[in-house]
Formats: sequence, C-alpha cells, structure tokens
Amino acid sequence: MTMKTLRQLTIVTLLCVFCNNNAKTSSDLMSYDLKEILSNLSVQEKIELVTGVGYEYSPKGMTGYTTSIERFGIPHMALLDGPQGIRIDWSKKDFNYSIRPTAFPTATVLASSWDENLVFKVGEGIGKEARHIYADIILGPGINLQRNPLGGRNFEYYSEDPILTGRIGSSMVQGIQSVGVGATLKHFVANNSETNRAALNIIVDEKTLRELYLRGFKIAVQDSQPRAVMTAYNLLNGVHTSQDSKLITQILKKEWGFDGIVMTDWKSGTDPAKQISAGVNLIMPGSSNDRASIKKSLQSGKLRMEQLDRSVKEVLRAALNPLPTLSSYKLSNKENLLKNNRSLARVAAANGMVLLRNKGKKLPLKGNISEIAFFGNGSYHSLISGLGSGRVCSTYRVNIIEGASNFSYGQSKLLEEIMRNYLPKSNPHSVCDYGGGFGQDPELIDERNFSEKEIGLIERQSDAAIITLRRLPGEGQDLSEEDHFEVSQTERSLVRSVSEIYRNKKKPVIVILNVPAPIETESWADFVDAILVSWLGGQEMGNAVFDILTGKQNPSGHLTASWPKKYSELQSAHGFPGIVTSEKLIPIFAGGDMAKPTKIEYLEQDAVGYRDILQSQKSVAYPFGFGLHYTEFELSNMNVKQRPHNVEVSMTITNTGEVSGADVIQVYSVNSDKDDVKYRELKGFRKTDILSPKQSADVMVTIPYRELEIFDNDNGCGWMLEQGSYQFFAAHSSQHIMSSQIIELKGDHSCEKNG
Ligand code: BGC
Repeated sequence: MTMKTLRQLTIVTLLCVFCNNNAKTSSDLMSYDLKEILSNLSVQEKIELVTGVGYEYSPKGMTGYTTSIERFGIPHMALLDGPQGIRIDWSKKDFNYSIRPTAFPTATVLASSWDENLVFKVGEGIGKEARHIYADIILGPGINLQRNPLGGRNFEYYSEDPILTGRIGSSMVQGIQSVGVGATLKHFVANNSETNRAALNIIVDEKTLRELYLRGFKIAVQDSQPRAVMTAYNLLNGVHTSQDSKLITQILKKEWGFDGIVMTDWKSGTDPAKQISAGVNLIMPGSSNDRASIKKSLQSGKLRMEQLDRSVKEVLRAALNPLPTLSSYKLSNKENLLKNNRSLARVAAANGMVLLRNKGKKLPLKGNISEIAFFGNGSYHSLISGLGSGRVCSTYRVNIIEGASNFSYGQSKLLEEIMRNYLPKSNPHSVCDYGGGFGQDPELIDERNFSEKEIGLIERQSDAAIITLRRLPGEGQDLSEEDHFEVSQTERSLVRSVSEIYRNKKKPVIVILNVPAPIETESWADFVDAILVSWLGGQEMGNAVFDILTGKQNPSGHLTASWPKKYSELQSAHGFPGIVTSEKLIPIFAGGDMAKPTKIEYLEQDAVGYRDILQSQKSVAYPFGFGLHYTEFELSNMNVKQRPHNVEVSMTITNTGEVSGADVIQVYSVNSDKDDVKYRELKGFRKTDILSPKQSADVMVTIPYRELEIFDNDNGCGWMLEQGSYQFFAAHSSQHIMSSQIIELKGDHSCEKNG
C-alpha cells in the first residue's frame, strides 16, 4: 500500500469514529494501519498524541481535548464531564451549544434505586446529550467507594459496597456507550477523600485493595468495557496512581484485559515520563511543559521510545475501534430527547429516594392536607447536586416548594413571607453563575431561628409541616463532622419545636433530608413522623419528592451506605481525613500541600461501612440496604443452586400490602466453614417489577463466582473460590434477613488463576 492510499484510508477510518461515517474497520486493517501510522509519525506527533491540548485551550467549551494530527486526519477527541449529566456552561455566549443539559440525580441517588435498567437508561440519556454536541467521551462514572460519610465526592460515587458499585457502574457505562459515546471509570483508585487530594498517600494492604477498592473497577471493566479509565490524584502506597505501573499495566491492562485509554486526572502526578512508562495513554489536560518533559526524558533515555510507542498505539487503537453502534447512530430529535430526559430525571430521582421513617403511616399524605408549612432553607433553595466537575448547569431546578405547588398544595403565607425576606434572591441559573460549580454556593446560608410564637402562628395556617435539612458537598474538600454530619443547634431546635407544636395538634411533621451522605438522626428522629432522604436529586427533585409524599409512587429506594448513630464509632473515622507527616517522600506539585494531611492508613482493612458495623456488632441508625415502602413484601421458596459459572438464588416475592410497589432483594453470603454470619457480604441483588397488592413474582439473583472469590495474598494464589459450605441470605437490608440456605460449593484452590 502506498503512503498516499494509506493516508486516505486512515483519514476515512479515523474520521468515522467521530463523524458517524458508515464505514467499519476490520481488525486486520486496523493492525496494519496501526503499525504503518506509528512508523510514519514524528516523535513530536507521538508526544502530542499522548498529551491533551491544554487547560486554557478548550474548543467548544469541552472539559478536555486530545491533540489532532492533521496530516493523518486524526481529529481532536472531545472529553466532557461528568457523571450527573453533561457539564457545559451554556450561559456563556462564547459557544453556541445545540442543547441545554439535563441535571440528572447524583450517583448516590441512582445507586439507591438498586435498579440496573433505570441506571442504563440514565446513561443512555446522558450519552445522547453528549452526542448532540459531538463529545466523544464522558468523564464518568465515578466508582470509588464511600469509605467514610464525610468523603467530599461521595455524592458522585455509588456506595460503600464494591459489588453494588461495580454493577451500577457497569449499567451506567453500558447506557452511555450504547449510543456510541465512550465512558470513563474514575478515579483509579482509592480516591475516597478529598482533603489535600493531590498529595495524599493512601496506605492500604493488597488484600483490602483488591477485595474492596479495586473490585468495583474490575467488575465494571470486565462487564461493560469502558472506553477509558482515569487515574486518581492521590498516591497509593507511596506511588502516584498515574505513575503506578503495577496498577495500570499489570492489574488493569494485563490482569483485567482493559484495552481502552488510560488518562490522568487533570494536572495530577509529578512526572510525565513516569506516567507514560507506567501505562498512561493520555496526560490531561496536557501542557507544553508536559511535552517538553517527555521530549527531555526521551533524550536522556529515562523514557524509551518503545514505551511511548506503546501508549500511542493504544490511543490509535482506541480511536480506530469505534463502539459497535457508533456508525449507525443517528442524532435524536432534540425536543423529544430533552422531554424524555426530563421525565427520566424525575423517575430516577423518585426511585432513589429512601423512606427512613413513617411512624403511624402518616405518609402518603392524606386527603385532609391542603396547606403545608415549609421550614428549612432547602425547601426553597433545594440542592440538586454537589459542587465541582460533576455539577451540571441545568436550565432550571424544581425546588421542593415548587414540587408542592405542582401538586396543588398551598403553603403558609406567613412562613413564605418570612423566608422570602430571609433567603438570598434565588437565580434559577445560579448553577452556571459560578464557573460550573467549583467554589461556594451563594445561596447557602444558615437556617433561621424561629420563635415558638412564630411557629404557633404558622401552624394555624397549615395542615402539615415539612422541614428540609440540607448539606452541600463539593470536589476538593471533605465534609466535617461538626458542620455536616451533626445537626446544628438551630436545626435541632427547629425540628423539636415544630414537632411539638404540630404533633400536639395531630398534624404530621415530615423531614426531607436534602443531603449527599448520612447525617446524624439519632438525637431528633423520634420527634418527627416521617423522614424521606431526597439526596441531591437533580433538576426534577421537587416533583419527585411529591411523587413519593403523595403516594403517586411508592418509595422503593434503599440505602447504599450505612447511617451510623455516631460518626466517631466508625473505624474509618480514625485518622480521617489524614495525618500531617514529616515524610518528604512525596514531591510537592500542583495542588498538593505538605502542611496539610498527607497520609491515610486504611487500618480498618475491610471493616468499612456495614462490614464494620456487623463485625463489631455496633447498633446503627439505619443499616446498609434499608428502605421503607408503603407496602410489605413477603419472601418464600428460597432456593440456592450451584451452576457451572455462577450461583443462582431463586425465590418468590409477594406484595402483601394494600398498594403497588417494587421490592429490592439483596443476597448476602458468608463462607460458613471459615466465618461467622457477621462477616456476611452483599453478593447480588435485584429490583423487582412493580407488583400489585397480592401479586407474586419469581425472582432470580445470579451471582457469578467472581463475586464469591477471595483474594489470597498469603499464599500468592490471587483470586480464588474456596470450596466449602456457604450460607446465602435473602434480605431487605444488611440487618433484615428474610430467609437463608446453606450449600456446599465446589471450589478452585488452584494458584494458577489470577486477575
Ligand atoms: C476531577 C475529575 C474531572 C476533571 C475534569 C478533576 O478535578 O477530579 O473528576 O473529570 O477535573 O474536570
């Protein structure tokens, strides 16, 4: 093939990745092209292919851009945040976006639905919006674990459990990629806190790392083949994750078979040559310094040309390997897409909300309630997302009071006036007003103090009270025990006084928790009738809250993290968010600060979340997996069978209550030859369809052996399924077991298996 025809072919094949060309490439042609292209690229071009175009230069307002090589027709690839929808700042006039993005509920809400089909649909919705502005790769989902309730980015993550995280993450990736847009698993790995994140060294042993922190990534890589993986800011056992060849080349690429692009998080790590030799394909956002440094390392021999070639080859292969549906993808009708995404955002929010308390069955709201008093700033300025790169600049948000008025509820005029004078003026577009969401939220002010007299007057104008408590998390900082986990004096006395006055008059008091993560409930929950966690529920949150409160939809969300009684009781609280060390092992670089905490040791090993709570038999406010419904479900006919590749747990679920609803079945297991039941772990789950009263459904939870394997570090066996008797539990939460069965599993003790 002449160079000219090669070039023409290359241009066609490469462009088709980005332009919906109908041509498809064969793998033979691809490998031939790769070699040819590689041998014809100059060193400078190779360096450019592995570095983004730069922070400042972001054509069309994307989050990042790869470098184009025009003489080969290799175009830019556009990378775009993030997990909750597409992050474009459309309020800036510089770019003429063809779409206004939908702010979907945050990741924790999606996971709390325990509904993989729903999460797939949300991924598809995000992917379709990305395609409208020709973004190639979405920078999400985030699938780190919620190790500690104060983690600043917990709202962007799914759960404290790796299997739930991996499964929900896979559904999100599959949804995004089903429309021809790539997805990125981030942040690989152990980005479980944000304080001084760029210089924070996470010390964790191999077994814990594999069984907890890497496990969700492994599941998502193997089950959904994401187009990209982004490394984390933090260090892992003394090595920057973006410079860790064991992590990137050995584990991710060789053991798990990942063949997409590994990119760095924005401005992370210290040494581009070390990043490339560790297996990174794309240094983001990329800079002239990065390029100069790679060039220098090549000249000095610190970086070998074959190491650079390997990275380039993988970038090219990824570009030449369009997702199966890409070539046939058609842009959806914009109006229909946005309309569908709006209703999807509402359905997703309602499905992820968790009812924690419903004393005296005061919910759903009864017909005698027409006027409601809305206390708490969050009723008026509801939080729909956290701050940072995951924040979506939506065109509107439905606050809780607007949700109420959409359902024709009136509100106490006196309270409305008090709050109108108290709160800063709300700007529906305020999420765009401060740079896509980094920094502070100007609407965030302290709760107002109400006198008993005021509450008494307000009570006369209303049939029920709703108190919204809110917490705003954000990237780059962790929450604090005092300001976020604990409720303030003002909040507690508001809840107490409103409850006393309303409940004396037999009027219901409902608390809405507009929060990203668990908060303290022990000191006040008994005062109120009902507690609904709305989370940071996306732009349709206010409507979704009333879908649940009115019973239009039965609550069916379940917690994906444990709600402790006291923060300090958690093992992960010790040493959080890290200790200041005198070690100068870690060079200081952009973003890192040696005067701040630089080290966290995960001394608790696997005792994270419900594992900690069960193993040390602590009492908990609300356990992992917990969630109330307006109906009851009964389980019968549990049966566990070993199959060649998995274990099947079948059962019958019957709705024994008065209203329709969907149940969430969780299957836990323990190797009972070795461990006590308190070591049970989640292995599989299933959300049922909506069942009418008295209706039954046969449910099957399939658990691949992979989920039952342990990582044997002591004998160097790696992943293996131990044989022995296993007890399987079908449950409604980690602490509410409905049925169990023991079976003998034939295992595999071979040390050959790895990965
Ligand atoms: C975040 C990433 C994000 C990137 C680009 C970083 O600060 O950690 O999650 O994708 O910025 O915005």
